Amino acid sequence: MTVGRLKAAAAALACTVMLGTSGAAAARPAAESASVSIDLEHPGPTIEPAVYGQFSEHLGNGIYPGIWVGPDSPIPNTNGYRNDVVAALKHIHVPVLRWPGGCFADQYDWRDGIGPRAKRPVRVNASWGGVEETNAFGTHEFMDFAELIGADAYISGNMGSMEPRAMAQWVEYMTSPSHSSLAEERRANGRDKPWHLKYLGFGNETWGCGGEMTAEVSAMTHRRFQTFVSAPSQNGPMVRVASGASGDDYAFTDTMMRLAADKMDAISLHYYTLRGGWDKKGGALGFDDAGWAKQIERARRMDEIITGHSTVMDKYDPKKRVGLFVDEWGNWFDSDPKEDLGVLYQQNSLLDAVTAATTLNIFHRHSDRVRLGAIAQMINVLQAMILTDGAKMVLTPTYHVFDMYQPFMGATPYPVTIQSPTFKAGDTTLPMVDATAARGKDGQLWLALVNADPERAAQVKLGAEGSVKGSVLTADEIDAHNSFDHPDTVAPRPFAQRAGKNGLILNLPSKSVVVVEVDR
Ligand code: AHR
Repeated sequence: MTVGRLKAAAAALACTVMLGTSGAAAARPAAESASVSIDLEHPGPTIEPAVYGQFSEHLGNGIYPGIWVGPDSPIPNTNGYRNDVVAALKHIHVPVLRWPGGCFADQYDWRDGIGPRAKRPVRVNASWGGVEETNAFGTHEFMDFAELIGADAYISGNMGSMEPRAMAQWVEYMTSPSHSSLAEERRANGRDKPWHLKYLGFGNETWGCGGEMTAEVSAMTHRRFQTFVSAPSQNGPMVRVASGASGDDYAFTDTMMRLAADKMDAISLHYYTLRGGWDKKGGALGFDDAGWAKQIERARRMDEIITGHSTVMDKYDPKKRVGLFVDEWGNWFDSDPKEDLGVLYQQNSLLDAVTAATTLNIFHRHSDRVRLGAIAQMINVLQAMILTDGAKMVLTPTYHVFDMYQPFMGATPYPVTIQSPTFKAGDTTLPMVDATAARGKDGQLWLALVNADPERAAQVKLGAEGSVKGSVLTADEIDAHNSFDHPDTVAPRPFAQRAGKNGLILNLPSKSVVVVEVDR
């Protein structure tokens, strides 16, 4: 039976996954089998494109010179934005960009970042290394940049150290079509038309760097700000994002929802993947199979954490009006020792690709609640899409996963049941194979598969005729990464397979991510 017929019959597509040996893996452990079934009868809620969003903070080299080099820089740029970075971001269609923090957001006065750049005040970035912040990249630079790359703007407003009036005036400055003094000031600073502000965050990590508030104080502060901050109707609906919990702090979400659910459209969740806790994060490179597996295990916890917060939210919001925005997530390793303290620069390896794909698969499964994600962070910071060094730029394995997963933006997911063999490394045992499936906006059925086993290949047998084509991301070493000298060590390669007499079999290399379109 072809996949096309399966679609027509809206039947379940059953896939069998069997492990096999490849030439290179001949001496490796014996094959086992598993099965995956895709339930085409029960499409889920759309995977919001915003789930593929990104986060960029005034931290380390994220903004300067990751995005902004200034119009006079010898680095090729357009109006101060690096051309290489703009082209790379346009290619992956970044749906939404969150700025200016992070912790930086709650120390940021928007007035510092408007007007002639030469006259802007220089501040100390107290959140990140006490470096001088020139404010060269401010509201105009950010909003224009978001427009340039085609992303919706997500402003993270200061609720920790400023009053609601400041936030209200910032929103008016950006969005008002009127002739108010603030709108005229925006015009005088070079922008006639109001920008579109799609998302506004009220504070960041209010339980910590955003003001050390209890959940009760955070909820009531959020409510207070709602009284004073709004966008004009011409802006269209502005999604109000409450600052939410970290990790598995379900009590925080409970209190926020109980006291303020009616005053928010979404609540945030931050979850960073740390191999051994904050004091023993481990390195971005040089880990063994046990470290590899532990990192993936921690990334897989995202599923349990989202389920926990979603369950709490259901108590107050059973119709799921309020979205859960995972607006900071990713691997946090020990900083590269060559870098100064506070810049949070880390390399990005095949392990980051596998955890990114695993996390995106989890978001697909929670499309009923998770309507925005923002990986931390876009350039040169933590689990970055892009690394730069002077005029050089390199795309990371994480970037390639976001590129490969583009068909899932706006797609309709199907439930997938996976029965997979496990692998063990150190004290960690995990399933080898993870998979999600969705019908893209292009009408095609797409599969995303991860083989997390660092040693063994997997043969995935689809119980269907036809063929698949797409791409595979893998490398020889578990910590393979792209450097400025070797930028394509980890890069997608074409992947195509056609049904034989045993049906359609996908050969997944060890430690790989595969995204394919099923051709019917
Ligand atoms: O992404 C780095 C920091 O992590 C952010 O500033 C903060 O929100 C979080 O703790």
